[in-house]
Amino acid sequence: MKILVTGGAGFIGSNFIHYITKQHADWKVINLDKLTYAGNLENLKGFKESPSYRFIKGDITDRVQVDSLLRDGVDIVINFAAESHVDRSIQDSSPFIDTNIKGTQVLLEGIRKNQVKKYVQVSTDEVYGSLEIGKSAENASLLPNSPYAASKTSADLLCRAYWKTYGLPVMITRCSNNYGPFQFPEKLIPLVITNALEGKDIPVYGDGMNVREWIYVEDHCRALECVILKGSPGEIYNVGSNIEKTNLDIVRFILKELDKSESLIKYVTDRPGHDRRYALDASKIERELGWKAAISFKEGMKKTVQWYIDNKDWWQRIKSGEYTGYYDRMYVGR
Ligand code: NAD
Ligand code: TYD
Repeated sequence: MKILVTGGAGFIGSNFIHYITKQHADWKVINLDKLTYAGNLENLKGFKESPSYRFIKGDITDRVQVDSLLRDGVDIVINFAAESHVDRSIQDSSPFIDTNIKGTQVLLEGIRKNQVKKYVQVSTDEVYGSLEIGKSAENASLLPNSPYAASKTSADLLCRAYWKTYGLPVMITRCSNNYGPFQFPEKLIPLVITNALEGKDIPVYGDGMNVREWIYVEDHCRALECVILKGSPGEIYNVGSNIEKTNLDIVRFILKELDKSESLIKYVTDRPGHDRRYALDASKIERELGWKAAISFKEGMKKTVQWYIDNKDWWQRIKSGEYTGYYDRMYVGR
């Protein structure tokens, strides 16, 4: 089996490559990644020498490059490549439109012209928008509120159209907020852990009572494997944990774990259009594919905090700008 992983140098993509190569030693993995500020080959140290792994620096919006890769023969394409941070999308939505929408269209066109057995679009619960009560099932209304969420929703709709119109073997997964090793320290959990370790302020937007459903990244990777192996073309699968936490719950858990004072918490101006709550009904993937999140919040968070303690070099180089050569201070150390 030959699998093309796009965006494999990012947080979830690199965790997926670690996971899938352990589960399927005979699979060949091609990782196509543009290496934006969020892409980091340090996440895949050790793979360089592996004969079943190949890294290609490239852009999913590059039709020629995508075509030539697919022409070589690929069985599965899984698309993680994206601009993924809501706050950045509020600053400038252009790269979100290019990569998340145009890039998905280029991949779908490439698949239309070349034989690929399965295409998985890695999407998000943010396409459903904010929920006061209840949970979003796969047929809920799509009400994205941020430019990031709107770009992911647009990509989902293109995937659906390519399945309906051309019969492409497209499957969409919509997962809740992930956390775990290798997450770029602009997102809430790694930002809080690393700022707390450095004794810096912890910026909490608004009243800190926004709710997210948190899933440990390996549970998500296992769900993606399940969809690749057992999912049906044209289907959408929500991937959730049922673990709902307010942002303040998260911050307090981490500060307690690190034995740091809550005086580090600084309430800052709220994010414009800030979604209050996301919550998924993931019963379809549980019922139809037999997947269920397995890692408890406490276990996942303890592992994650420990990973950032043990891998200070990794995040300190990112935060100082040494590794990527680019780091937008707007998002760290406020
Ligand atoms: P990330 O920002 O950590 O990684 C994105 C990766 O894509 C980086 O390696 C980057 O270099 C690469 N990339 C960006 N533009 C590219 C392009 N034009 N061509 C090729 N590569 C490109 O993101 P993540 O958190 O790992 O998210 C991965 C996917 O999962 C995204 O599609 C995101 O929407 C989705 N998702 C994320 C979460 C979450 O909580 N992080 C939850 C649900 C869904
Ligand atoms: P984030 O990790 O950016 O994920 P998303 O917005 O895609 O859910 O943010 C998670 C929550 O944490 C969200 O409600 C915004 C909030 N947040 C803060 O309060 N402070 C911060 O510095 C960041 C980055 C996020």
